[in-house]
Amino acid sequence: MTDIVEDIGRLKASRKAVILAHNYTRGEVQDVADFTGDSLELARKATEVDAEVIVFCGVYFMAETAKILNPGRLVLIPDPSAGCPMADMITAGQLRELKAQHPGAKAVCYVNSTAEVKAECDMCVTSGNAERVMALYPPEQEILFVPDRHLGSHIAGTLGRDYVLWPGYCPTHQAVTVAAIEEARRLHPGAPVLVHPECAADVRAAADERLSTGGMCRFARESPMREFIIGTETGILHRLRAENPGKAFHPVSERVTCPNMKKTTLANVRDALRDLRHEVVVAEPVATRARRAIEAMLAV
Ligand code: 13P
Ligand code: SF4
Repeated sequence: MTDIVEDIGRLKASRKAVILAHNYTRGEVQDVADFTGDSLELARKATEVDAEVIVFCGVYFMAETAKILNPGRLVLIPDPSAGCPMADMITAGQLRELKAQHPGAKAVCYVNSTAEVKAECDMCVTSGNAERVMALYPPEQEILFVPDRHLGSHIAGTLGRDYVLWPGYCPTHQAVTVAAIEEARRLHPGAPVLVHPECAADVRAAADERLSTGGMCRFARESPMREFIIGTETGILHRLRAENPGKAFHPVSERVTCPNMKKTTLANVRDALRDLRHEVVVAEPVATRARRAIEAMLAV
């Protein structure tokens, strides 16, 4: 392990590379990353780095977003099979059909979507900025929200709006249940329950806070509480515990793991750097059209 970490450090310097990692990746991958964050923070970071190579540790749509925002950089994904099942629940063709059924509507995609789907959209949102961005649309504006029906219903409910929701969902967050929250509350009385807005409506209602993974990190840092119950992918526990010594973090369930987020390992990060392999390519005109939706979001 130490050898591999040393190899990564050496290769990173010689390749003039930066390693970006999502909060859900393995702890040892987060530890070699230059920056760890949520989807919004990583998208922002990707626009700021001046490295020649970006090694993106996360799932494919995130690496695609980094490439779209940084067309001049070499973006690598250590395991290109690391996809997001939710992102694959709608195709660009299906979205075009939906738009044809709703002339005048604005199409809004969660960042957990393919570049082709983003290219069909007027606006992109992440769980970290969705309410702020969506509040800008007037109440009478018809909105088609894809692909996550849970994030969509969460924003619509918070803003008192009614969206047309695509029936996509995250299979990993389905493992966060009301019964598991009740059991965690029994074991850790008084600890606030933080869940991701990708959780189902009954789970969101049973929680104290509905936050992006970056929002959870901020909440834990700023809260005077000492114990927290976390309802999202368990990879985030590594960062929460590292940043908050003296505070305790309990997963709602140990079963909330995203197999795709775990595909990035120290070995394939090293191999990506050594062989400059698994380049992320986004074809034109998809990249230019998708960039409009992402930049519209970043401008808010
Ligand atoms: P964040 O927006 O909090 O990074 O979450 C991304 C994700 O894939 C959640 O499943
Ligand atoms: Fe996709 Fe869910 Fe994994 Fe996030 S946790 S990458 S939404 S499958």
